[in-house]
Amino acid sequence: MVAPRRGKGAQGGWLPAWFRLPGARKWDELASGRIRLRPARFSDWKAWSELRAASKAFLTPFESTWPRDMLTRPAFARRVRRQAEEWEAGTAYHYLVLRAADGVLLGGINLTDVRRGNVQSGSLGYWIGASFARQGYMTEAMRAVLRYAFRDLGLHRIEAACLPDNAASRRLLEKFGFVQEGYARQFLRVNGMWRDHITFSLLQEDWERSPDARAP
Ligand SMILES: CC(C)(COP(=O)(O)OP(=O)(O)OC[C@H]1O[C@@H](n2cnc3c(N)ncnc32)[C@H](O)[C@@H]1OP(=O)(O)O)[C@@H](O)C(=O)NCCC(=O)NCCS
Repeated sequence: MVAPRRGKGAQGGWLPAWFRLPGARKWDELASGRIRLRPARFSDWKAWSELRAASKAFLTPFESTWPRDMLTRPAFARRVRRQAEEWEAGTAYHYLVLRAADGVLLGGINLTDVRRGNVQSGSLGYWIGASFARQGYMTEAMRAVLRYAFRDLGLHRIEAACLPDNAASRRLLEKFGFVQEGYARQFLRVNGMWRDHITFSLLQEDWERSPDARAP
């Protein structure tokens, strides 16, 4: 079951006092099964950097190349600020995935490059900490974010891309009915090398036909 919850908004909670945007709108926190999802806060740095460091060998073969300072506190602070700005602009929605029972950080899932007007699309990216892989957590996170994207944001099309040999990502996308559309040459620099990716999409009408759309 997926339950969108209203967060406290940029007037409190995860943004520091000096970074309160005028007219900031509220954001949605999400919950699904054993997990909950919320935007990153500055105070997440330690858990985030430790999980990413411990999962480096698991993540880097598939992710966009890590900047040299990626795990540092200043880089994380910049990341949180940028994500807040994107959220306010309605161009990206970055979530941390937490275990509902104890708040332990499991991973992240992001809806980025959100385009409105006659496009109404967004791009999905995700990662799970190595020690939490293959336990169904990203399936639950994806279920929550797809519902949010199609029902709450009203998007029409969600795109995703993965390396041809990324069996976990392909399976995850196929499970939710994403359709393979193409082959994007040198789509992303992964581990320092430009790598071709397979591209997928899921339409709102595909999702509306799925059991997830009928869930309360
Ligand atoms: C892709 C990723 C997020 C999946 O997270 P996860 O929490 O392990 O996913 P789930 O446990 O919900 O599993 C989803 C499906 O993928 C399958 N799967 C997971 N890992 C797999 C693997 N290594 N090989 C084959 N299938 C795999 C699961 O069995 C499940 O399918 P099923 O329900 O039919 O059994 C995770 O593997 C990851 O972070 N990989 C490294 C980073 C990455 O690839 N990011 C995406 C870049 S496109």
